[in-house]
Amino acid sequence: MADITRIGVVGAGQMGAGIAQLAAVNGVDVWLYDLDSEALTKAQKSISNNIQRLLTKGQISQATSVDAVKRLRCSSRLDDLQSVDIVVEAIVESEQVKKSLFANLDKIVKSSAILASNTSSISITRLASATSRPSQVIGMHFMNPPPIMKLVEIIRGADTSEDTYCATKCLAERFGKTVICSQDYSGFIVNRILMPMINEAFHTLYTGVATKEDIDTGMKLGTNHPMGPLELADFIGLDVCLSIMKVLQAGLGDDKYAPCPLLVQYVDAGRLGKKRGVGVYDYRNAAKKTGGSPRL
Ligand SMILES: NC(=O)c1ccc[n+]([C@@H]2O[C@H](COP(=O)([O-])OP(=O)(O)OC[C@H]3O[C@@H](n4cnc5c(N)ncnc54)[C@H](O)[C@@H]3O)[C@@H](O)[C@H]2O)c1
Repeated sequence: MADITRIGVVGAGQMGAGIAQLAAVNGVDVWLYDLDSEALTKAQKSISNNIQRLLTKGQISQATSVDAVKRLRCSSRLDDLQSVDIVVEAIVESEQVKKSLFANLDKIVKSSAILASNTSSISITRLASATSRPSQVIGMHFMNPPPIMKLVEIIRGADTSEDTYCATKCLAERFGKTVICSQDYSGFIVNRILMPMINEAFHTLYTGVATKEDIDTGMKLGTNHPMGPLELADFIGLDVCLSIMKVLQAGLGDDKYAPCPLLVQYVDAGRLGKKRGVGVYDYRNAAKKTGGSPRL
């Protein structure tokens, strides 16, 4: 397959914006698409600020920063993605919504284009079944935040071709990432292991074993994790964590993956984590982690 020179990123949330930035800084033309024009405006602003920060820190040159800004185009028309070589989808973690998007993309993008999903847990094989090109559908799972985290987990669906795998791996390596490869089973490698730990941290809080601060401090200092599991859940998004637990439970057919009732309740209450200003912790004032109940 020819080199990838143009990428479409669908979903301008925390992951999509980061993937778009990574691509633009690494010399790939980007179309960033979202249904929500506010999300696009916010993403464009945060990408420009981040590029400026990289320049100020001397991590990229003036020429690279100017080039990166020029390479990024935002759109709320899916048709604008017709010329891209690969689409990386980073929308809401819902199989139904992703399948419908993949079916639409399949009709819009050129026949040689790869359709990749940044899904945290949903079956690539099932997403591929919504298209007429299952051999060109793959999982390209970036970690959060994409510009910083060194890993990309690549997931091969049942029919993903060797060419698709090699082109996707090449692109991830061009972005400076280390690649690991997973077969297509719910949660893949990273979330299969990480999410049950986060869910167990919620159970530990729910059953009154310890405070949120002690749970996080215990895991940071006791197991050398850079963030505690509850803090990490807030960072990922509690809605994303809940969706992944549901996928693990249904996909692996084991109730040991059932989401903790407290996690479910927080999501029901709109406490989605850092992106909403409140999750396990309250981020709405500077005094993060000072305790007390979030003000809802
Ligand atoms: N948050 C994480 O730490 C993390 C890490 C790795 C992978 N992921 C995965 O990445 C994906 C996105 O997660 P996120 O945290 O960036 O979510 P987010 O809520 O920050 O952003 C999602 C964006 O998608 C847009 N969107 C929703 N439906 C759409 C549609 N049909 N068409 C176009 N745009 C649509 C929304 O407007 C929003 O801007 C999910 O599949 C998630 O599981 C998340």
